[in-house]
Amino acid sequence: MALLTILCYPDPKLHKVAKPVAVVDAVIQKLVSDMLETMYEAKGIGLAATQVDVHQRVIVIDTSEERNQPLVLINPEITWKSEGTHLNEEGCLSVPGIYDGVVRHDAVHVTALDETGKSRVIEAQEILAVCIQHEMDHLMGKVFVEYLSPLKRNRIKTKMLKMHREDAR
Ligand code: NI
Repeated sequence: MALLTILCYPDPKLHKVAKPVAVVDAVIQKLVSDMLETMYEAKGIGLAATQVDVHQRVIVIDTSEERNQPLVLINPEITWKSEGTHLNEEGCLSVPGIYDGVVRHDAVHVTALDETGKSRVIEAQEILAVCIQHEMDHLMGKVFVEYLSPLKRNRIKTKMLKMHREDAR
């Protein structure tokens, strides 16, 4: 396994739209295990391939307290969304240190392939439902700060660029 570099907002590569995985082969399995290692190392609850500059529809998630229940979603598709929504405080490994409210569906049903290529249905609610919606946005090239007001987004952009400049010194 290997740690991957996570792209940071406002990197334009975060806005690329991911393509479906044609076949779940050893290359995808290696990507999945590297993404899991990267997510655990970064103490995140989810990571989309887009965030590690791989533009294929692959997501890894672990919302368990014990950090021992990895969930792999390849070519995920939402088949049902609850009418009910709620405002949830979100963060993102690509926007470190920023947390803000985003409205999400309370529950979603998703079909996806797992790391063995087997199709499965996930009925998600609460934090898992939020996480799936957040990660699926990444695959469409969307970062959660794009739901915020232009004013807030610009402030975040400025803050991130300043942070990167300081890192580069
Ligand atoms: Ni994110």
